Amino acid sequence: MQRALRILVLVLIAGLAALWGIAWFGREPGEPLTDAFTRQVARLTGRETPMPATPGSVQLPGSMSLGGPFTLVNQDGRNVTQADFKGQLMVAYFGYTFCPDVCPTELGGIASAMDLLTPEEAARVTPALFTIDPERDTPDQLKAYVTNFHPRMVGLTGTPEQVAEVARRFRVFYAKVERPEISEYLMDHSSFIYLIGEGGKVVALLRPQTPPEGIVAAIRAQLGRP
Ligand code: NI
Repeated sequence: MQRALRILVLVLIAGLAALWGIAWFGREPGEPLTDAFTRQVARLTGRETPMPATPGSVQLPGSMSLGGPFTLVNQDGRNVTQADFKGQLMVAYFGYTFCPDVCPTELGGIASAMDLLTPEEAARVTPALFTIDPERDTPDQLKAYVTNFHPRMVGLTGTPEQVAEVARRFRVFYAKVERPEISEYLMDHSSFIYLIGEGGKVVALLRPQTPPEGIVAAIRAQLGRP
């Protein structure tokens, strides 16, 4: 009996070690190991929405529908929908202002891409941060944060229900991560860059850490379309 128990404990330890190993190799660049581990657990327990994984800049096939109408609140506290961005190509990132490392890097890349565009091109593009942390990301909090990156960047928040609905439509995975050793919680979230066109529809998905030049190329490919 005691022997069976010992084997069971050993198997459990081996399983956990394997999971840590998978998390280690499956880490996104710059992602803390603990976050990667949480992500693997989420995947195993089926809580994670799989993202279409494709290399580089991806044109979505016409049959694949991602995104759509949304109702949120902007950084000025005003209700907005996809119709407020009519005629604009949105370069969007789903993250949160308290993010310690990944979000600032990606938003910095988007801001750099905006500066690489000609003024005529940039006028047709709106950079945007959609928060997945509505609890802390109030319009004021978002406004101070996004304008730090780019004067034209908009911040979108809403009720937890509105944010959850948008995340569902855009297949954004996010989850609160609470740890006893830290006072502020973190948010685990997927990290794709979305190009959003008419009607809130996603027209291209860019992999995490796409360099500014890659973002510019994807934007130009969209602006050149009729
Ligand atoms: Ni983040």
